[in-house]
Amino acid sequence: MGSVDRASEASPSRELGVAMPAGPLPSIGSPAGGPAPERPSARRVTWRSVAPSKWTCLVTGGAGFIGSHLAERLVQLGHHVRVTDDFSTGIRDNLVHLDGQLELLEGDLTDPGVCEQAVEQIDVVFHLAALASVPRSLTNPWATHDANVNATLHLIRASQAAGVRRLVYASSSSVYGDMPTLPKTESAEALPRSPYAAAKLAGEQYVLAYARGGLLNGVALRYFNVFGPRQNPHSPYAAVVPAFLKAALWCEPAMLFGDGGQTRDFTYVDDVVTANVLAASAPADLANGMVINIGGGRRTSLLALLQLIMQVTGREVKWERRPAREGDVRDSLASLDRAERILGYRPQVALDEGLKRTWNWLRSTV
Ligand code: NAD
Ligand code: UD1
Repeated sequence: MGSVDRASEASPSRELGVAMPAGPLPSIGSPAGGPAPERPSARRVTWRSVAPSKWTCLVTGGAGFIGSHLAERLVQLGHHVRVTDDFSTGIRDNLVHLDGQLELLEGDLTDPGVCEQAVEQIDVVFHLAALASVPRSLTNPWATHDANVNATLHLIRASQAAGVRRLVYASSSSVYGDMPTLPKTESAEALPRSPYAAAKLAGEQYVLAYARGGLLNGVALRYFNVFGPRQNPHSPYAAVVPAFLKAALWCEPAMLFGDGGQTRDFTYVDDVVTANVLAASAPADLANGMVINIGGGRRTSLLALLQLIMQVTGREVKWERRPAREGDVRDSLASLDRAERILGYRPQVALDEGLKRTWNWLRSTV
């Protein structure tokens, strides 16, 4: 049976979980207000002088799974929200409940003109648009490269030209690959083992290079296996949680790639959204140019996940073994020390609670 480990016992510096109040954006040179981590020395970015209490935000990939939750939270906080999406994997239904409450710009961010339009008058860019999935990237690495790297560089350049105050980039735990030690710490060498992971690392490094160079204020969040309502269970590239929940719902066998002993640090989507809001408002002296893990803080094997899903759903789920996937990572667990120190982030939703919420959502869709 699988393992469940704790990553960090550090105590939170502040309480999270509920929506953060909208606050002024950080400014270059603002007091650090805490122990200074390693950070770049060049900070030549100039900021608009008056920090608004409400932000004008761009959420790229806002019609997708995580992006639609982030857009919803930002709207709830009273910020002005624009979403840019090309609906390649995102769907309109994810935003239908926000109709009339946000601006929607349909377009492909590999087009520099779309990037320029998207960032007009924007304070904070949350860049989530990407083609996710390791197997998809093995089937079509160029499409992954275009959407995840080329679009990111176009967006960075447009953001710089438009005077965007901060760019928060959605990176991935996949960049660590099979790093031999757990938990995975940001200071260790990235060892990507798929085109997807390499592309996420390239996008992240562009953001950080522009930040270190004093050209743009940017921070990269490395999300660890995110799950929750609206994550597509029907795609051939479906992630493991929605795929297993769908198997429970339809009383069909789950596909288990490999021996099921591989582990993941499953992170509920609301925690990832909170981390994004915190990253947008963290002091520049702490956050600018930084890469920060965002995880759930525990690792769970796929066999343990199946057991938990059976408990939560009250259904028996059988599984069929398949060969391990190419490019698959064996173990994953986030060190959350940096996230806590810089952002005050601590995950709030445990795996079983997140699975219950996701199960309730999935049942409501049929
Ligand atoms: P998703 O597929 O649901 O969302 C991605 C969105 O980006 C979609 O709405 C898609 O239509 C849009 N998009 C793709 N290419 C685009 C383009 N060229 N122009 C405009 N829009 C485009 O995926 P998600 O799971 O919500 O992932 C969001 C982000 O988080 C991605 O950057 C992904 O790499 C990252 N991430 C996800 C996870 C996870 O476990 N889901 C983990 C780590 C990192
Ligand atoms: C996932 C994300 C990726 C993100 C990464 C961060 C998806 C599709 N992929 O990759 O965007 O960067 O987390 O850690 O959201 N598996 C099965 N049966 C299934 C599906 C998957 O056994 O039906 C296995 C896989 O082989 C893998 C594990 O479950 O060992 C997790 O797979 P998946 O959910 O696709 O996530 P990652 O590849 O870890």
